[in-house]
Amino acid sequence: MLRYLAKNRSVGHIAHQGGLLASVYSYSSTSETAKKSKPTFHEVSDASEESHTGQFINKVSKPYTVTTYARPNLVLTHGKGSYIYDLENRKYIDFTAGIAVTCLGHSHEGITEILKDQSEKLIHCSNLYYNLPAGELASKLIHKTKEHNGLHDASRVFLCNSGTEANEAALKFARKHGKSKGGDNKIEFITFANSFHGRSMGALSVTPNPKYQSPFAPLIPGVHIAEPNNIDSVKELISSEKTCGVIIEPIQGEGGVNHVDESFLIELRKLCNEHDVLLIYDEIQCGLGRSGKLWAHSYLPQEAHPDVLTMAKALGNGFPIGATMITEKVENALSVGDHGTTYGGNPLGARIGSYVVDEITKEPFLQSVNEKSERFIAKLNQIAEAHPHRVLKVKGKGLLLGLQFAEGVDINKIVEKCRENGLLIITAGMNTIRFVPALNIPDQAIDDGLTILEHCIKS
Ligand SMILES: Cc1ncc(COP(=O)(O)O)c(C=O)c1O
Repeated sequence: MLRYLAKNRSVGHIAHQGGLLASVYSYSSTSETAKKSKPTFHEVSDASEESHTGQFINKVSKPYTVTTYARPNLVLTHGKGSYIYDLENRKYIDFTAGIAVTCLGHSHEGITEILKDQSEKLIHCSNLYYNLPAGELASKLIHKTKEHNGLHDASRVFLCNSGTEANEAALKFARKHGKSKGGDNKIEFITFANSFHGRSMGALSVTPNPKYQSPFAPLIPGVHIAEPNNIDSVKELISSEKTCGVIIEPIQGEGGVNHVDESFLIELRKLCNEHDVLLIYDEIQCGLGRSGKLWAHSYLPQEAHPDVLTMAKALGNGFPIGATMITEKVENALSVGDHGTTYGGNPLGARIGSYVVDEITKEPFLQSVNEKSERFIAKLNQIAEAHPHRVLKVKGKGLLLGLQFAEGVDINKIVEKCRENGLLIITAGMNTIRFVPALNIPDQAIDDGLTILEHCIKS
């Protein structure tokens, strides 16, 4: 049972709750010898049924947990930066960041400090009253968005607790706005093939994946599916009388890390204007620095900016928080009582959100995301060139990257093999492996992780 080993790695020892000590994967140096030395690989299969892990899963966790997830025998216990550890004290390079969430890495000291400090002051007080962090986060999001070439007429923020909730708010606001403009028939939505917007009923209704939708049909009516980068497909569906909102991810994450063209989004914006339809950008995965700018739409000219912007994931670095940003045009259609949530804007989450936004919007931080992205893409291109029959292309932007494989390649096997070699990665649609690491991932972790990946593609 071995992990991926570089010649001059150091073997550390860590203790876990069970008191067990085991050797872990741990690099001590980036010296020339380390770079030149040929790595050797050693696989560790997932923990056995008899292990601490197997016993915990089969006796404590699995029998009492609703069966909605397929998971390997892996119990994660703690992490630091871009490394994460399991109950068997195995160390993994983390290219998943909890699915694009822990943008500043695991156990970030700044976040830990805020958690402690704010939890000693006020964790929750409901939206019956104002609180300082929620107001500060809302105003910060608006100002920073404008400073970073995002939604130029951003005006207000609704704080909630997750991505799907941020989209629920967006859909409800679009309906309210639509009805205020066109009466009770202006309630329909246009969404796009391969998009993902969440699992609650509204968000699920605009997530056109039969696997997710069919068991729960009927969903909300009047949702039409267009093709990304095909403006004619939208023209055929949009109507001034019926359509209230169009929802799109500027870079699709779950659907396969698919970039949407600038020219298409400019045309889409124009169509929405002509038909008085709200344009909603879901930046829950691609936003907050992941694209290399604050927002994926920060790359776009103002004429392609949305009316509504949704965010979550990275905003809390793991603390559940989401937000829906709107323009004054949308705000004007809303009234007191239209929407609400008990936990949204709680002082603890909001303070963490403020901290994350401050960190991400530091210029050196975003610059470094772009440098890391270049490093990642260069190595992914090398891998693609070396395996032309298996790898089709490198996709994505910033640190939302994908490697699309040929149809016959079983990417789940590659994911499993990577895990056995000490690297966590995830898949996406279109037979794509997705890379969404912490935005501050060390270069060494990028290099080591991609060395493991290439080894696993080869074998
Ligand atoms: C683009 C996008 N929208 C919405 C969601 C739903 O977010 P949550 O899982 O926080 O509800 C996700 C989650 O993966 C996402 O990637």
